[in-house]
Amino acid sequence: MRELFNQNVIPSYGRFDLVFSHGQGSYLFDVAGKRYLDLGAGIAVCCLGHAHPAITEALVEQSKKLIHVSNLYFTEPQGRLAAEIAKRIGAGKCFFANSGAEANEGLFKLARKFGHDEGRFEILTAMNSFHGRTLAGIAATGQDKVKKGFEPATPGFRHIPFNDLDAARKAISPATVAIMIEGVQGEGGVTPATPEYLLGLRALCDEKKLLLFMDGVQCGHYRTGRFQSWQRILEDCRGRGNEALTSKSETSQRLLTSSPTEFLPDGVSMAKSLGGGFPIGAFWVRSPYADLLGPGTHASTFGGTPLACAVALKVLEVIERERLDEQARKLGEWFKRELERLAIKYPQIVKRARGLGFILGLELVEKEKIPALAKSDKPAALQFVNRLHEAGVLTIPAGTQIVRLLPPLNLKPQEAGEGISVIEEVIKSLA
Ligand SMILES: Cc1ncc(COP(=O)(O)O)c(C=O)c1O
Repeated sequence: MRELFNQNVIPSYGRFDLVFSHGQGSYLFDVAGKRYLDLGAGIAVCCLGHAHPAITEALVEQSKKLIHVSNLYFTEPQGRLAAEIAKRIGAGKCFFANSGAEANEGLFKLARKFGHDEGRFEILTAMNSFHGRTLAGIAATGQDKVKKGFEPATPGFRHIPFNDLDAARKAISPATVAIMIEGVQGEGGVTPATPEYLLGLRALCDEKKLLLFMDGVQCGHYRTGRFQSWQRILEDCRGRGNEALTSKSETSQRLLTSSPTEFLPDGVSMAKSLGGGFPIGAFWVRSPYADLLGPGTHASTFGGTPLACAVALKVLEVIERERLDEQARKLGEWFKRELERLAIKYPQIVKRARGLGFILGLELVEKEKIPALAKSDKPAALQFVNRLHEAGVLTIPAGTQIVRLLPPLNLKPQEAGEGISVIEEVIKSLA
């Protein structure tokens, strides 16, 4: 298989030596028949696991009726999906695309349209963020490694430190038109935004007439236990006034007037879990700005096909019917407590547990401090993930130190238990 790929596939991905043939529920099977517990779910995509009968049925039934017509016409599934998304976020409208990068691209265009007549075009994004691999996506991404070799960068993006309100305020220039952040940074190492940061950015954007965008591509779609990450993050300070907001910074003082329950960004990008594995991306725009992209301003041939939208509607229906949001939250909390237990039990290997719900990270100590890993030139996280592969568990490295866990939302408690005991075995073997 390596040979076939070497000869025929552009080598832009670093691939593991694993060849999968099929999946069932939370498990994947390689061509030799070995079973793996999939705690990566296609990097936060397969939210209902593999070969879910409801997805198969939606694909079969819809494909018998209509797979594609151009967006020159109306189709029912697209309209219904837009309504379901707005119901879960707030009053606004959706545009449908095919990927996370394409969804973000649409939001960047929306921002440019919004600021165009005043000559404002600049979008601030966070250091360590990830927003996709298109030219605008890598310009927006706050990580040098994705930009290298592709200069000159698309103009109009600058990076600010994450979770630092005062830095955001200071970075705003007369050309700034929007701020985009992930509610939980995924690729950057599983770092949630603080409630204070979210509320502060909202107040700051209102004050400076900027659009506030949330990239929910990885952390959205119930992964945190709520449809979008800010709904989950701000829950913790609801009903407690703003006690959770402890900073004495100048900006945070102004937050005392803003309410967590009323928080809404102006735009949200989605993809990954939206189709449970079938490609679909989308962005939602809050009401006052929802008609900025008028006829002829933005389009995508495959955006919002009846097939993709029928599958996405089915995914939402299953999550709601089976209360998978609650399951992800409860099991995610259990999982995090277990990872914290491992950090306490094996401090020479594990630094800390990160994340919330089913977007979790196991942060390892520096490679040099783990004799069994120090000899290799590969990063600690990559070596750990490889050892987990040998033990039959799939996870995803984020940076050099963090092992990311993005399980399907319908992971069963006994599967979570199996995952933790394998992770503990691998840690033990290093300790
Ligand atoms: C937060 C975030 N935004 C955007 C993207 C890009 O999505 P896609 O690969 O579907 O273009 C990703 C992909 O990992 C992501 O994690």
